[in-house]
Amino acid sequence: MPSRLKVLFAAAVLALAVIVGSVALLWKGSPTAMVGEALVGGPFAMTDQNGNRVTEKDFLGRYMLVFFGFTYCPDVCPTELQVMTAALADMGEDGKSIQPVFVSVDPERDTAANVKSYVENFGGGLIGLTGSPEDVATMAKAYRVYYQKNDGPSGNDYTIDHSSIIYLMGPDGKFRKHFTYTTDAKALAEELRQAIGG
Ligand code: NI
Repeated sequence: MPSRLKVLFAAAVLALAVIVGSVALLWKGSPTAMVGEALVGGPFAMTDQNGNRVTEKDFLGRYMLVFFGFTYCPDVCPTELQVMTAALADMGEDGKSIQPVFVSVDPERDTAANVKSYVENFGGGLIGLTGSPEDVATMAKAYRVYYQKNDGPSGNDYTIDHSSIIYLMGPDGKFRKHFTYTTDAKALAEELRQAIGG
C-alpha cells in the first residue's frame, strides 16, 4: 500500500481506538473504562537527551504532551514541536503543569546527543526520548503511533513516514486527549486549558 495510504490507515485505527476509549470513559466505574484508558499509553523505557534511562514512572505527577517524530524531519516535526512549545508558553503558569516530550522514531540516527541539540532548538523545557529500535517500537506501539522508514538514494539518507498526533497524558500517566496536526498554537493552548481545567 502506498505510504500515504498507510499513514491514513494508521490515523483511522487511532481514531477508532480513541472513539472506543472515549465511549468507554463515558461508562466510568464500569469494567470497560479500564479497557478504554488502556488503549493509548503504558509502560516504556527510553533514553533521554542527557543519556539517562527513563520510564513512564518518571513522568508521573505532571501532564505530558507527547509527539513522535525524528530530528531529520524536514517539515512536520519542527512545525509541530514549535507549535507545542508556543502553546505552552502562551498558557503561562498553566503551561508549567505540562511537560512537552519529543519521542524519536529514528533510533538509527537519533542518538541522545543528536536529540539533545535538537530539543534545545525549541526550548520550553522540551524533553527528547530515544533508545534502541526495540525501545522505540515498544513505546510507539503503546501510543498507537505508526512509523515506516522509506529508503533513500543512499544508506543514511532516508525519511520516515509517521503519525503526527499530539497526545496529552494525565499526571496519573493515563491518556486524556489527542490533537491532530495543527499550526495554530493559540487554539492548541485553549484546548489544553480546557483539558486540564485551567
Ligand atoms: Ni516528522
